Amino acid sequence: MKVINTNSYDKMSLMAAEAIKQQLTMKPDSILGLATGSSPIGCYAKLVEWYNEKQISFKHAKTVNLDEYWGLAPENNQSYRFFMEKHLFNLVDINPENTNLPNGLADDYDQECARYEALIDSLGGMDLLILGIGHNGHIGFNEPDTCFHNIVHREKLKDSTIKANSRLFDNIEDVPTHAITMGIGTIMRANKIILLAGEGKEEAIHKATTGPISAVVPASVLQLHRNVTIITSF
Ligand code: GLP
Repeated sequence: MKVINTNSYDKMSLMAAEAIKQQLTMKPDSILGLATGSSPIGCYAKLVEWYNEKQISFKHAKTVNLDEYWGLAPENNQSYRFFMEKHLFNLVDINPENTNLPNGLADDYDQECARYEALIDSLGGMDLLILGIGHNGHIGFNEPDTCFHNIVHREKLKDSTIKANSRLFDNIEDVPTHAITMGIGTIMRANKIILLAGEGKEEAIHKATTGPISAVVPASVLQLHRNVTIITSF
């Protein structure tokens, strides 16, 4: 596990974007695992800039996002599908059919979780996965728990997560109470992981990297992955 403290949001974003660029250059048909949140926005902006300069192309790439709120339609401006289209998919040459997120409006969430896990498997797994981290150490929406969840599942969000994410909603009551997320096993099966952590995540990163491996701090499991780089803006 490599930790790089850049002391700058721009440097963090540039390093992450460079890793994605390198991945796409090496393997244009890469399977990219992607995250939402404030941490990767700068990275996506850099990728869009390089796409406009014809330095990179997403033409042959496929993407799978980590998570999606349960109960939000794709066109809802708080959905993670909306976020991805706004910050990346609509601004580069990726084929929309090659972009994947859990369906937050599926009739049956168990079926939807099984579909999403099988989809990731059928793509052959992720070459590179970008992660963020919650204040409580969550990755994707894997909240602190008594055990690690292996596969894609529906998760009840902690009150602290609802509160943290309410900054982006008009009212806290509008924040969904559940989400569909890749499981810890799904995440750990990615070949390479880059975790981005912005300001305010110092304690979460400290616990994840130096504390015991425990489902109470979900990101601590990354200590067991063979190719993880944590890049922080602090
Ligand atoms: C949400 C997402 C996580 C993300 C986290 C941190 O809870 N489900 O995948 O890592 O937010 O977001 P931010 O980068 O905005 O701090």
